[in-house]
Amino acid sequence: MKRKVLVIGIGAGNPDHLTVQAIDALNRASVFFIPDKGAEKSDLAQLRREIIERFVTRTNYQVVGFDNPVRDSATPSYRQGVSDWHDAVEDVYKTLLAERLNDGECGAFLAWGDPGLYDSILRILERIRARGDIELEYEVVPGISSVQALAAAHRIPINRIGESIMITTGRKLKEGFPENADSVIVMLDGQAAFKNVDGDMEIFWGAYIGTPDEILVSGKLSDVLDEIERVRHEARSKKGWIMDTYLLRKPQAR
Ligand SMILES: C[S@@+](CC[C@H](N)C(=O)[O-])C[C@H]1O[C@@H](n2cnc3c(N)ncnc32)[C@H](O)[C@@H]1O
Repeated sequence: MKRKVLVIGIGAGNPDHLTVQAIDALNRASVFFIPDKGAEKSDLAQLRREIIERFVTRTNYQVVGFDNPVRDSATPSYRQGVSDWHDAVEDVYKTLLAERLNDGECGAFLAWGDPGLYDSILRILERIRARGDIELEYEVVPGISSVQALAAAHRIPINRIGESIMITTGRKLKEGFPENADSVIVMLDGQAAFKNVDGDMEIFWGAYIGTPDEILVSGKLSDVLDEIERVRHEARSKKGWIMDTYLLRKPQAR
C-alpha cells in the first residue's frame, strides 16, 4: 500500500486565499504536517492551524508538528549549503512519513503561497519517492502566491504590455539589476537588496501581504527607499521576522 501526500497551496497569509480545490484536498487528508518551531514559524503554524480548524469538516484528523531544519548560512558555498539543508529536510520528512503516516493513509503539507514557487517541498518529496525506501505518491494543489497577492494589493498588472517579468531573489539582485529585464519581482530578500539598484526605478513593496499586518509602499525608489527601510526595520523588530516581496521596474520611457 502506498502512502499518499497532498501538497496544498494555502495562499500567502490570508485564509480567504484558499481555493475550492485546496479546501477539498484538506478534507481528504487525515494527518497534517506543520512546521512549528521558531517565532516566524510559530506565527505561520498558527495560521495553518486556523485554516485546518476553519475548513476541515471531519473530526478524526491529527496535526503533527515538526521542526524543519534551517539552512546553515555559514556554509561558504550557497549551493552546498542548500544541498546539505535539503539532505537534512529529506531525513525529517522521510521519518515523518514513515512513522506518522500509516500505509494507505493520506497526509497533507500546507505549503505557503504556491508550492512550486521558492519552496523546496516538491523537490524533497520527489527525492523521497525516487529513492523508493517508502512507497509514496503525491499530488499538488496550486495556491495564490505572494507575487499575485502583491500585485492585487497594489492594484497593478505584474507585466507591462507585451513585456516579460523576471522573478528572482534578494541574493541575486545584489549582483545587479538583471540585464534586459523590465520588471523584476524580488523574493527572499533578507538584506534589502533594493538599496543597490538605480533610484529611478519604480518599486511596489509589500510585507505580510494579505495578513492584518500588511504594509504597502510604492513610488520612485529614491523617494521611498528610506521609508521602506524604516518600516521594514520597525516591523521586523516588533514581530521578530518579516516576509516581504516587491516589484521593481524601469521607469516608463516617455
Ligand atoms: C520560501 S518563499 C515562499 C514563497 C511562496 N511559496 C509563495 O508562493 O509566495 C518565502 C518568500 O515569499 C515571500 N512571501 C511569502 N508570503 C508573503 C507575504 N504574505 N507578504 C510578502 N511576501 C511574502 C517573501 O519574499 C518570502 O521571503
